[in-house]
Amino acid sequence: MAVDSNFPEQYNPKDDASFYVGNVPVYNDVILSPMDGYSDWPFRSICHELGSGMSYTEFVKAEDILKNAKRAWEKLYFQPSERPVVFQLYSDSPKDLVEAAQRVQELEPDIIDINMGCPTRSISGRGAGAGLMRTPLKVARIFRRLTDVLDVPVSAKIRLGWDDDCQPYRLIAKVIEENGGALLAVHGRTKKQGYIGKANWDAIAEIRQVISIPLIGNGDVRTVADIERMKAYTGCDGVMIGRGAITNPWIFSRKDRGDVPPEQVRSLMRVHMERNIAFYGEERGVILFRKNVARYLSLYRLSRGERKRLLSCTKGEEFLKLFDELLQRVINAEKS
Ligand SMILES: Cc1cc2nc3c(=O)[nH]c(=O)nc-3n(C[C@H](O)[C@H](O)[C@H](O)COP(=O)(O)O)c2cc1C
Repeated sequence: MAVDSNFPEQYNPKDDASFYVGNVPVYNDVILSPMDGYSDWPFRSICHELGSGMSYTEFVKAEDILKNAKRAWEKLYFQPSERPVVFQLYSDSPKDLVEAAQRVQELEPDIIDINMGCPTRSISGRGAGAGLMRTPLKVARIFRRLTDVLDVPVSAKIRLGWDDDCQPYRLIAKVIEENGGALLAVHGRTKKQGYIGKANWDAIAEIRQVISIPLIGNGDVRTVADIERMKAYTGCDGVMIGRGAITNPWIFSRKDRGDVPPEQVRSLMRVHMERNIAFYGEERGVILFRKNVARYLSLYRLSRGERKRLLSCTKGEEFLKLFDELLQRVINAEKS
């Protein structure tokens, strides 16, 4: 039904969305970054429940999809409640990207994203990830072909470029938009910077001036105040948070970590570990959870011995019992 503009108070469902990717509505402007080894189904689903507006998978190598590698398909698991779900693929081969995207589209993601930011030498060095930023013509071919053959919107996550002397972010952003890309996420660093040095928000603001598709800014967002600051400074439609969310997934509910009481940390850690065990099985689930434990507990004063005991547990129940004990001590210390 068309909305009559004479009745501005009339309910318009479109008003609820923060922005649209093609015809896919996104209902929160704060989004969990794709992170290899972290944005797996257990963590993604938790961040989504806390408010993350989109669910990006970890990146998946197109050739692994074509080879039917089990681990690649495992990374693409999702539940419908997590939508909009974004599958992220990487490759230096347009042909492999297109074939893999067609294959994974059968799982019905909402969006397919191309990784153009990975700085790892084995990936960027062969022209994939951030390496793609050096070949704008290839980027044009990839996006033209993908947007022609796929039914879902196609997006990209880029960096600013390779190094100080090669920063083609304006050109690449234009190429992506002109060849059908429906969304662009920008990590404000070059490949050479990796994850250090200050993220360049001016560059994200410049990109805002040259494209009109939705833009997500990324880099150096750690607090609720940073979210609003980045939006105001760059004009981006959404803000993506990576490392800050590992320590503080509550940021998607616009809560700083210092405002989260230990009881809530404890219950979320329980849920996270239970999902890890359900998803990966007990042994692998507990081992993979250790890196998250270290981050969740980074704010608390635990002794070396306590941390070591916790991080060497291999059984779910043993682990939960121990961290309940340790957190109780933290809670009592905070109360006294
Ligand atoms: C451990 C780790 C894994 C990452 N894996 C991916 C990935 O699979 N795909 C991707 O586009 N970016 C990946 N990134 C980059 C993040 O999505 C994000 O752009 C970067 O961490 C900057 O944001 P932050 O300052 O909020 O952490 C990864 C980053 C980290 C730290």
